Amino acid sequence: MEGSAHILNDAPLVLAMAGNERLASALAAALDGAVADCLIRRFPDGETFIRIDSPIEGRPLVLVCTLDHADDKLVPLLLAAATARDLGAASITLVAPYLGYMRQDVRFQPGEGVTSLYVGQLLSSAVDALVTIDPHLHRHDALGEVYSVPHVTASAAPAIGVWVRANVERPFLVGPDAESEQWVRAAAGGDLPYVIFTKTRSGDHDVAIDAPDLAQFAGRTPVLVDDVLSTGRTMIGAAEILMAAGFDAPICAAVHGVFSGDAADALAAAGLPHVVTCDTIAHPTNAIDTTSILVDAIRKLASDD
Ligand code: R5P
Repeated sequence: MEGSAHILNDAPLVLAMAGNERLASALAAALDGAVADCLIRRFPDGETFIRIDSPIEGRPLVLVCTLDHADDKLVPLLLAAATARDLGAASITLVAPYLGYMRQDVRFQPGEGVTSLYVGQLLSSAVDALVTIDPHLHRHDALGEVYSVPHVTASAAPAIGVWVRANVERPFLVGPDAESEQWVRAAAGGDLPYVIFTKTRSGDHDVAIDAPDLAQFAGRTPVLVDDVLSTGRTMIGAAEILMAAGFDAPICAAVHGVFSGDAADALAAAGLPHVVTCDTIAHPTNAIDTTSILVDAIRKLASDD
């Protein structure tokens, strides 16, 4: 399998998996490429049909597929990559603004699958390179422990900091758990004050959060910052502590708004109407555009070759 070499030496073809059309168009424009003409649909029995109509032989392909709710997306993605390979694409670079399947990164209980590794192996066998934003790295130190192909991980956390400085008066940032410190520190950028809480999760919807003394932040507006908002329970648990300590309802800012199940309703019911996310997953709360972050990451991948 070829590497990501020459990804930008020739005008890339940019293929949008379902729901990624806006980003694919923006990337094609920024990279002097073209959006691939293709048809991906389901047969009546639910299996995937794919046809790539644009000439692809010898051209680098950028495959755009954000991977929230990944089980529905992985098979079509793998089949698109296989089709492109079969038709002679020079290289296949996956741009996955949100890289799902990163949180089961250890065998917590005997018998569990470490699915981050298995999905990493699967995708690494299908594409030549990967670009993503803020993958959930906790017990894996680096994405290279999970993905064997060349990759660039960009971060949208500084962009959250930019948004906070422009939109919130006298903010302080709050990381709801130890893992969030890397994103909170990047968003704080050396000038915004921040504090990190601790979290114990006992179930998908059950978290217990503890906080240090918050007196030094009196009079400031809390902004919760995390990489992923899934069930929303982490944000809600941290917000309850802040409100019990006398602060206004915090703004909840996440890089990736997955919004699983009843997350949106639960946040509203908890009195948290101000939720802000990056556009790595399309959602009404998107307030931070990551297109330029991804373009820079793709250019970095090309220059790393
Ligand atoms: C933790 O592992 C992550 O950084 C997030 O805190 C977590 O994914 C949030 O999940 P939820 O919204 O389901 O509490």
